[in-house]
Formats: sequence, structure tokens, C-alpha cells
Amino acid sequence: MKIDIRAEAARYYDSNPDAPNDVPFYQRLIPSSDAAVLELGCGTGRVTLPLIPRCAYYHGIDISPAMIAICRAKLAQAGIPPDKARVDEGDITAFDLGRPFDLIIAPFRVLQNVETDAELDGLFRCIHGHLAPGGTCILNVFRPNRDPQGLRQHWVSSEEQLSWETPTDTGRLACYARQARMDVERLVLFPELIYRRYEGDELKEEAVLKIVMRCYYPDTFEQLIREHGFGIIRRWGGYAGEPYGEGPELVIQFGDDRSTRHVDTPPTI
Ligand SMILES: C[S@@+](CC[C@H](N)C(=O)[O-])C[C@H]1O[C@@H](n2cnc3c(N)ncnc32)[C@H](O)[C@@H]1O
Repeated sequence: MKIDIRAEAARYYDSNPDAPNDVPFYQRLIPSSDAAVLELGCGTGRVTLPLIPRCAYYHGIDISPAMIAICRAKLAQAGIPPDKARVDEGDITAFDLGRPFDLIIAPFRVLQNVETDAELDGLFRCIHGHLAPGGTCILNVFRPNRDPQGLRQHWVSSEEQLSWETPTDTGRLACYARQARMDVERLVLFPELIYRRYEGDELKEEAVLKIVMRCYYPDTFEQLIREHGFGIIRRWGGYAGEPYGEGPELVIQFGDDRSTRHVDTPPTI
């Protein structure tokens, strides 16, 4: 049986005040109200719910049953029928949904959770297999703030650092990060997120989430996409119009190489 690494931490996911302001960006990139959209790693539906009204059909998949359960509850609460949107448990590196999509997205750095080359090959094979003619995919990673050598030398640290803290009805929720270890060859980081819920000064709950973050630089991210047979259409450095390679994020829209129009780096959308 597969372990859900997010089983304990999923309930804290939506409290993160540092989630990116990317929803308007993805809303604008839905090609038409007739479009079918696939979200890889939809999580608790942070992006899913606000995108559903903008398209004809929306399908989300996520490997975590706990995240999917929260997302499903939100869909039910919003009264969204299953012929309009559904979310399923699934692995983005090996799936077959039996239908094509006009837009495939994976917001908030989902690609970086894919650790091995074999899994990356599987992910891009699945994207190929699910793109409608003329369809496109948008992937995103963060832009590392150090060069590879700097990352190798400085990333690992035993110290816990406060990432964010937010008030709750009865106290506060804090998220700490520990830079636990790193695969220096493949530039894969293994951070641990520690969620602590306090009532007053008393620690009431703690949940630890150990994740994988494979790192890419502006050139290696483009290379990854091209070497899997896709053509790059547009690139951004963030969600506020930053040029590619200069902002905090790396965001690339790409399509099947044979049908791709190469537009490249508009200043903003
Ligand atoms: C940072 S969260 C992003 C969630 C959502 N896209 C958002 O923007 O809020 C990453 C999500 O990717 C999912 N994920 C990671 N690896 C996956 C895989 N191999 N297959 C499916 N989902 C995966 C995790 O379970 C998690 O919900």
C-alpha cells in the first residue's frame, strides 16, 4: 500500500499565506470557454475551484488521497456537477484519462516533486498523450537563488527556519522548514516542512511533511522540455510580468513540437 506523505499535513495546506498569486495568470491562459483543462497535482483545489467557471470541463489528479478529499469537499460545497469537473487520485508520472485536453497545467511547482529521470519521462509521455491538437501545457518551477555550486555548498542545514505563521481562532499555526538533505549530483533538495499548531503557548499538534524539490535553472528547464519533444511557446519569470530568468519563478508554456508557434517571451500577459 502506498503511503500518503500528506495525510497529516494536508489540512494545513490552505493556511499557507505565501502561496503564489497565480490564479489570474492561469485564468487568462485558458484558451476558450469551450476548453477542456487538466490540472496535474491539483492538491486541495487552490487553483482548481477558481478556474472551473472559465472552461467547459476540468479534470484534476493528485497522488495524495488527503489532498483530493479536501478538494472534493470544496467541489461538493460549491455544487459543481461531475460532468463539469472531477478530481481523482492519480500519479502524474503514469496516468491515462482516455481523453485529450486543450490546456494542461501544474501550478505551484508540482514538476519539482518529480524526482527521477524515469518519472520525468513518464510525466512528459503522459502530457504528450493527453494534449489535444494545438493544445498546450504550462509547467512551473522556482528559480534557485544560488548557482549549482552555491546550492551544493550551502543548502543543507540542520536548523529549522520559520517559513510562515498565521493566527487561528484559538491561537496560531506556524510552518518551519528544515533543509534536511540534498542529492548534489541531480540537484534534488529534500526539505522537511514542520507544521505546529498552538493554542496560546501550548503546542497542540505537529505534522511533518518531507518533500522532494528537484531544481532547474532557466536553461536546464527549457532543455528538459525540448528534450522531451516539445516546442516552447512562451516563458515568464513570475506572475507579475517578470522577464524569464529574472523573476522568482520559471514558467513555460509549450506544445507539441510539430504544431507549436514559437512566440517567446512577451513582457507580460
Ligand atoms: C505544492 S502542491 C500544489 C497543489 C496545487 N497545484 C496548488 O497550486 O495549490 C503539490 C501537489 O502535487 C502533488 N503531487 C506530487 N507528486 C505527485 C505525483 N507524482 N502525482 C500526482 N500528484 C503529485 C502533491 O500531492 C501536492 O498536492
